[in-house]
Amino acid sequence: MHILHVVGARPNFMKAAPVLRALSKRDGILQTLVHTGQHYDAAMSDVFFQQLELPSPDFNLGVGSGTHAEQTARIMLAFEPVARDQAPELVLVYGDVNSTVAAALVCSKLGIQVGHVEAGLRSRDRSMPEEINRLLTDQLSDLLFTPSTDGDENLLQEGIALGKIHRVGNVMIDTLVRLLPRTDNLLPGAAHAPYALVTLHRPSNVDDLAWLRELLQTLSDLSRDLEVIFPVHPRTRQRLNELGLTGGKDRLKFQEPLPYLEFLALQRCASMVITDSGGIQEETTFLGVPCLTVRENTERPVTISEGTNQLVGRDLRRLKEAAEKILQRGRQGREGSTRRVPLWDGNASERIADVILRRQET
Ligand code: UD1
Repeated sequence: MHILHVVGARPNFMKAAPVLRALSKRDGILQTLVHTGQHYDAAMSDVFFQQLELPSPDFNLGVGSGTHAEQTARIMLAFEPVARDQAPELVLVYGDVNSTVAAALVCSKLGIQVGHVEAGLRSRDRSMPEEINRLLTDQLSDLLFTPSTDGDENLLQEGIALGKIHRVGNVMIDTLVRLLPRTDNLLPGAAHAPYALVTLHRPSNVDDLAWLRELLQTLSDLSRDLEVIFPVHPRTRQRLNELGLTGGKDRLKFQEPLPYLEFLALQRCASMVITDSGGIQEETTFLGVPCLTVRENTERPVTISEGTNQLVGRDLRRLKEAAEKILQRGRQGREGSTRRVPLWDGNASERIADVILRRQET
């Protein structure tokens, strides 16, 4: 059986790596890896391939950045001939980035089966480009691999047949479980003092410069209590340049984007994480590290009901108060603050391989 994987942006890489690994252990599977080139900086792409031990892509479509329509269209145009020539039996797409929906749309028109890894997540906020990508990819997919029960429920509500839905757990946690032991000695010396770890890259937070300035002021205030480490995404870096803020201030430290292992080491030992990322809400839940999400909603509600995540919305007072509470609570220890989400156990990718092979036999 020939399976083709499509990845494009940073959060795809840690999801595809364990699935490729699990399938490579099974007999009779030929795998092809396509990188769309949506992310292309070494710090956003190459270093992840190395650390995650991903094979070099068989094809790099080199599409680069652009508006949503430009980027999505370029991926479709470049991917269509590859999909047609390779003629795989199944194409696996990951997460909710533009590369995900573009590849799914190409395959569904070519009559190639599509499997969506991380299906069924919904924020119900259609102003997020990722929500549009999630909705469309799920409608186009033949196999839907969900990380949690809310995913199944969302898909059923949208009329997806039960037989297509497979709850397998969280593949991103597979990567975390495998690589966590390699982070033991990676914590930079300066990070041993208590610190907050920050990532912000959503257009809703960083493209509104007035809001971004206020948010940075709040982080700067927080840095009076503890160091604030902020690895900066390229989109955010552009906005900081526009604001004339390049170096950070006092104990608020801007850094280049970090490789997977170094970032995981920092998450693991942080007093708190402040983010607008999706995946980081999940990783902090698994690690039991308090997470404050600077968004009004989340497509990952189990990180709130079962985990350590708290939505603070677009409300800086709430962010401040929540951070202060975590600091106070921190002195009493944070153990026992989290329960394990079912199937977030390091074996989701093996379950995906099982489903694919079982389906091939029938
Ligand atoms: C994309 C995903 C988002 C994901 C994020 C993780 C979509 C719609 N968005 O957002 O869901 O959370 O990746 O990082 O697919 N840039 C570089 N170098 C790169 C990549 C991007 O400098 O390697 C700059 C470019 O100026 C680009 C901007 O960052 O215009 C945004 O990149 P883009 O891929 O459009 O979206 P992200 O914000 O990275």
